[in-house]
Amino acid sequence: MARPGRVLVSRGEIAARVVDLGRAIGREHGQRPPLLVGVLKGAAIFMADLIRAIPVPVAVDFVGVSSYGSATRSSGVVRLTADLSISIEGRNVILVEDVVDSGRTADYLRRNLETRDPRSLQVCTLLDKVERRQVDVPLDYVGFVIPDRFVVGYGFDVDGLYRNLPEIYALEDG
Ligand code: IMP
Ligand code: MG
Repeated sequence: MARPGRVLVSRGEIAARVVDLGRAIGREHGQRPPLLVGVLKGAAIFMADLIRAIPVPVAVDFVGVSSYGSATRSSGVVRLTADLSISIEGRNVILVEDVVDSGRTADYLRRNLETRDPRSLQVCTLLDKVERRQVDVPLDYVGFVIPDRFVVGYGFDVDGLYRNLPEIYALEDG
């Protein structure tokens, strides 16, 4: 059975980087409160820490997506499982993702949200697996660029488990 192996990003590294990202968002969005849209379920943990690191007022909403596939490789077929609860028309929207891997999910959500006429649309992701990109998606705020490893912890799951671990681990077989 696959299980968490070595720590890839420690609790301290995550906390420090989240503070940087929060400040960067605060600097760019001091004039008008942005609306942060978290992607369930993976980004819920990151979102909770990120919003508390942003030193200006922000609003929050969530969308749910699921992509069919195996436990560690998504099929690229993305489906919306929960929609926004408010209108984003005229808002400065920041989509908050746990990881951009192939880029398909972020690309799908970007296109979907664009049709609703936000004033601006940015993407913030905790992790960027840039080597695995298949669809080019512009990323505005990136926590860590990581190698092509499947990770668990801090919101990341395999078959629904390990989201509660406080650090980010590489998944190990055996
Ligand atoms: P995409 O390939 O960029 O569309 O990413 C699809 C989704 O796969 C992400 O939003 C995550 O939910 C999931 N995913 C990608 N890499 C990992 C990982 O290393 N651990 C856990 N989930 C992942
Ligand atoms: Mg996800």
